[in-house]
Amino acid sequence: MGAGAQHQAGQPLLIVLEETPVVGVPAALEEERAVAPTITMEIEELAAAEQVVTPWEVSAPDGVDYDKLVDRFGCQRIDAAIVDRIAHLTRRPPHRFLRRGIFFAHRDLNMILDLYEAGEKFYLYTGRGPSSESLHLGHLIPFMFTKYLQDAFKVPLVIQLTDDEKFLWKNMTISECKRLARENAKDIIACGFDVERTFIFTNLSYLGGPFYENVLQVAKHVTFNGLRGTFGVNQEDHIGKVSFPPVQAAPSFSSSFPHLFPGDDQLRCLIPCAIDQDPYFRMTRDVAPKIHLLKPSLIESRFFPALQGESTKMSASDPKSAIYVTDSSKQIKAKVNKYAFSGGQASVELHRKLGANLDVDVPIKYLYFFLEDDDELDHIKKEYKEGRMLTGEVKQRLIVVLSELVARHQRARAQVTEEMVDAFMAVRPLPNMFG
Ligand code: TYM
Repeated sequence: MGAGAQHQAGQPLLIVLEETPVVGVPAALEEERAVAPTITMEIEELAAAEQVVTPWEVSAPDGVDYDKLVDRFGCQRIDAAIVDRIAHLTRRPPHRFLRRGIFFAHRDLNMILDLYEAGEKFYLYTGRGPSSESLHLGHLIPFMFTKYLQDAFKVPLVIQLTDDEKFLWKNMTISECKRLARENAKDIIACGFDVERTFIFTNLSYLGGPFYENVLQVAKHVTFNGLRGTFGVNQEDHIGKVSFPPVQAAPSFSSSFPHLFPGDDQLRCLIPCAIDQDPYFRMTRDVAPKIHLLKPSLIESRFFPALQGESTKMSASDPKSAIYVTDSSKQIKAKVNKYAFSGGQASVELHRKLGANLDVDVPIKYLYFFLEDDDELDHIKKEYKEGRMLTGEVKQRLIVVLSELVARHQRARAQVTEEMVDAFMAVRPLPNMFG
């Protein structure tokens, strides 16, 4: 739901309607048009329930319709030609998140690829709002992918931990937000980032100087109406929610990091994230030319679904929806067996006859994200769809895949010391960041 529009029964629900006509609009107008109309509706009127995708809520009763989302937000689809181009330029096979269309949308990605091809430089920017003790599997998606991009393109990376955002949106003290940011940083470091090329910062410690100058520049060019159109904030929301978005915008500009990019305010930025973060960067891209800075490019993923199915994303605030990177294999087994929504039939006889409905089956969707072997994935899908494989067998394979992934992460996390966190967070030049 829109910023702070925590919905309570009987209260109006603010959503951005799907009708926003962004298809075929010239690029320069795209972002303006995409932030235009909002309409306040009573929840009861949402019988056919539109999908709501904001940085704070993903809800789509019939599953997220990504085609509609791309059109409504005004981003572009990633096609096979882009995937091939990335493979060609980086001289390595495309990550499975790319070849399987999990990272499926972009903004100005070709501009980054053109630049790279011409031997010029760019940097990566991603982030995390530390709302829980540890990451869940959905959070791993952008971080695993960012690690691949960093290795493939050999570029610097900044990671923003929005402890301030979580203080404003959640019922948490500032010191708790700070503590969780540090804990989350350990999970992020465990994804394998290169300390020579990576700067991790928390807003509560880094905000100031040139970074804050960019926050102010952005803030001065966003109206309340524009913000309401993009995020769904309303007049009942506290003003912290209104003032925060420029803070997430600022790292898109290289001048926010003078210790990394001294004197360079025109280094291009590429942001990997799930598509829920798009509103922040739509706003950022709208403002950038007005403050004589470059629009960031984006590469955006689908959501790793909740255990219960694709009507929402896996979310840290709903423990039943999530598998955390701290879960034991016993817990993973219990959660998958108990909660993972199955597209199998009600009885073995029926299943053998009709086969599984893969469109709604969560174990298959999870394997699609995390089972590396394309042949094995195809085999499982075929056997399950035709009823020769049962849900229990697919879940069994998934439990092994996830347990291995999580155990690997836990081993890496156990190696991360407080000193390493300090090293990643030190405000320092990175002399070999493009090396
Ligand atoms: P946060 O902490 O909600 O999410 C962190 C990153 O994980 C992505 N994500 C998911 N991806 C796939 N499936 C899911 N179920 C799922 N849930 C979350 C998010 O898109 C995000 O990339 N405000 C941000 C923090 C932030 C940020 C950024 C994120 C600050 N600057 C720049 C991306 C890029 C937040 O609270 O993310």
